[in-house]
Amino acid sequence: MSKSHSGRIALVTGAGRGIGRAIAIKLAELDAKVILVDREDPGETAALIGSAATSVQADVSRDEEWARIAALADATFGRCDIVVNNAGIYPTARIEDLTVETWRRTLAVNLDAHFFSARHLVPLMRRHGWGRFVNISSSSIGTPLPGNSHYMASKMGVIGFVRGLANDVAEFGITVNAVLPTIVQTPGTKDAPPEFAESVWRQQAIKRFSEPNDLVGPIAFLTSEDAHFITGQALPVDGGLYKVG
Ligand SMILES: NC(=O)c1ccc[n+]([C@@H]2O[C@H](COP(=O)([O-])OP(=O)(O)OC[C@H]3O[C@@H](n4cnc5c(N)ncnc54)[C@H](O)[C@@H]3O)[C@@H](O)[C@H]2O)c1
Repeated sequence: MSKSHSGRIALVTGAGRGIGRAIAIKLAELDAKVILVDREDPGETAALIGSAATSVQADVSRDEEWARIAALADATFGRCDIVVNNAGIYPTARIEDLTVETWRRTLAVNLDAHFFSARHLVPLMRRHGWGRFVNISSSSIGTPLPGNSHYMASKMGVIGFVRGLANDVAEFGITVNAVLPTIVQTPGTKDAPPEFAESVWRQQAIKRFSEPNDLVGPIAFLTSEDAHFITGQALPVDGGLYKVG
């Protein structure tokens, strides 16, 4: 097993299950120490990883929670090298049923959190002149699914933020990229009707329902030393779903 991430401290949000769990396990396999952040207790993921895991229960939509997370990373490790902003929600509501509360909550969890993570963790990365942000967007920004306007707005916003932040932090050795999954089999999608998932994955070049492990290799690369000249990019990891233009 490669030790490409030895000495790195990696923080993964939404690490309690689904895609976030798979990413956290992969980064630990590459020898990073991993801070697991989740609104629910990420204990199951921590047990799978063992002593390289530190769990933090926190709501990523709250700026003050990020202050607490950053303080913990600083006190425990004196650094935080990698942040994977993965925590996200995808409540469905057509525009006539979309409440202000759902709009605001979706933007807060899926987008505000990315800003807060940068606000509190860029200073730690700057100290060591090295950092990696990978922020999870979605290929659904290019797929016309009903009841998704708030989600698409948040995930398009992720790409805009990634591009802007990349410019602001490049001089400190920090890269910032977005990854766009297709529909993925996770606890969050398990209640969706199978025909709905199939209607999406049938549009991919690779015609199967994606799994969390499809994401981990690209994220391992983007958070590695080798990816040092890639920044401000939005990488679809979606079996060929997203078509540019
Ligand atoms: N599953 C898919 O089909 C799919 C497709 C494209 C993009 N994505 C994106 O990938 C990411 C992960 O999706 P998933 O399917 O693994 O989700 P999931 O619902 O299975 O897991 C999400 C995790 O995030 C945590 N979480 C939610 N809100 C939080 C908050 N406010 N603070 C802290 N933790 C919070 C949950 O407790 C949960 O453990 C999301 O950003 C999602 O939008 C998913």
